[in-house]
Amino acid sequence: MRVISVVGARPQFIKAAPVCKALRQSHEEILVHSGQHYDYAMSDVFFEQLGIPKPDFNLAVGSGSHGRQTGEMLGMLEELFLEKAPDVVLVYGDTNTTLAAGISAAKAGIPVAHVEAGLRSFNKSMPEEVNRVLVDHVSELLLCPTDAAVANLAAEGIVDGVELVGDVMLDTARFFSERSGSTDALERFGVREGEYFLATVHRAATSDSAQRLESIVRAFSRLDRPVLWAVHPRTAKNIEAFGLGEILERADHVRTVPPTSYIDTVALLRGAAGLLTDSGGMQKEAYFFEVPCVTLRDETEWVETVELGWNRLAGTDEDAIVAAASDLPRPSSHPDVYGHGHAADAIVAALEARFGS
Ligand code: UD1
Repeated sequence: MRVISVVGARPQFIKAAPVCKALRQSHEEILVHSGQHYDYAMSDVFFEQLGIPKPDFNLAVGSGSHGRQTGEMLGMLEELFLEKAPDVVLVYGDTNTTLAAGISAAKAGIPVAHVEAGLRSFNKSMPEEVNRVLVDHVSELLLCPTDAAVANLAAEGIVDGVELVGDVMLDTARFFSERSGSTDALERFGVREGEYFLATVHRAATSDSAQRLESIVRAFSRLDRPVLWAVHPRTAKNIEAFGLGEILERADHVRTVPPTSYIDTVALLRGAAGLLTDSGGMQKEAYFFEVPCVTLRDETEWVETVELGWNRLAGTDEDAIVAAASDLPRPSSHPDVYGHGHAADAIVAALEARFGS
């Protein structure tokens, strides 16, 4: 098979790493980076640490409004897809890069395979929800991480081409967890095993709202443990723009640092008492490593983490965040709801069965 894989944002690098490796054992892969994430800490460091091959093409699209960013990618990807005529275009997750690649391939008459298909927050005001719904509806092969994802697709009438393959982030987490154990990340970041919260906030819905971001900052400043907050560039700009820096300066126990690399993130997560996040992927990574999570959103796509008691949805209310973080869940059971860390092989097998000659 000739497969074009399209990535562009941080979580997609983590998902693509094991799939690239498995795919290249017997097939031709052309790797395209849209350039949606471009800073060293948001992109290159993941390629280096995860051993992802250098992209064959980088569209260097950069940041912009959703329409402009997606539109620019659409045009460039269409040209590339028509020229290279792959058997299938492989897309990941729910970013604008996923949407552009999915629509572009479908319009060019090339089949689309979607890794992490079937996820739903049922909140259409999230750009990611719009992206994932649209991409699922143009995909020929829908590679689902969970039973819930398969059921979501069935509820929308999508049953053909649906495969349950497990969660590919678990492949990456398992592969790198040993290496994360041998870093000195905790020492470098000045935190002690089991004593601190790791925090991340990056979603537009959370960090572009002055009121919500202030509420989160105020909640962090009231917590009774150290908080190590790895701040996304979007959030860093907004902390400054909304004048929230002063609250953080007064809270000695809250330390903000730039975005962390994959291996540091895993090490810091494994060592944390709990995770405070609005990220989807990190709610799941917390589950993989049996770290309790407080989600700074009202809903989640990763419903299993909540149903099994490892994750609490606190939204962005200041008191609710403080209450949830002060009473971290620690359930006794931890079933393998995300598979066993072999999703990349299952993805390649499903691609071969559908598109291999
Ligand atoms: C994007 C995805 C989101 C995913 C997240 C992972 C969409 C709609 N959103 O959100 O689903 O969870 O990536 O991190 O696709 N910026 C930099 N340097 C970079 C990249 C971004 O400074 O390398 C800043 C820019 O100011 C930019 C802002 O961050 O405008 C937002 O970046 P963008 O890629 O639009 O969205 P994310 O919030 O990263």
